[in-house]
Amino acid sequence: MMNIYLIGFMGCGKTTVGKKLASKLGKPFIDLDLQIEEEQGRSIRQIFEEFGEDYFRKLESETLKSISKLESFVLSVGGGTPCHSGNIDFMKKTGLTIYLEMTPAQLASRIRQNKSKRPLVKDLNDSELLEFVRIKLEERRLFYEKAHWVVDGFKIDIAGLTAKIKEFRQ
Ligand code: S3P
Repeated sequence: MMNIYLIGFMGCGKTTVGKKLASKLGKPFIDLDLQIEEEQGRSIRQIFEEFGEDYFRKLESETLKSISKLESFVLSVGGGTPCHSGNIDFMKKTGLTIYLEMTPAQLASRIRQNKSKRPLVKDLNDSELLEFVRIKLEERRLFYEKAHWVVDGFKIDIAGLTAKIKEFRQ
């Protein structure tokens, strides 16, 4: 049974879409950041503050590898996961990768509503945030676009995507 990886920038809706998709497909849903937080007994923000980003990236790819050993799941990864440690290639080999694409303006307006949990953006004002998203997305696009499928995260059609996944599996 196939694993589904949802990838994309912070704020693109990976967790929301992942939960819906998992329930339609009858697969368990896992959120990589939440899994890390549970295993470490610390929030992502605390992990960044106490141990730094490099340490987080190590945990992130180790946790990704251990989850991938499970049977059949929908996994939402962090915005940076595909861009480090060869993780995008690993995910492509072990499942179907779907990139939820959004524009910098769409992303910035969604991230603005939930900044405090996200260490990379928590201290930015609105114009700095938009600039950060533009620059970071430009770098990260190269990794995200390696996904098997690219879908418009803003106009996502969960039923259509579910049908496409079921068809693909046969
Ligand atoms: C990060 C995105 C976050 C989280 C961490 C780093 C990033 O996940 O993994 O704060 O580098 O873009 P979300 O994309 O779920 O916010």
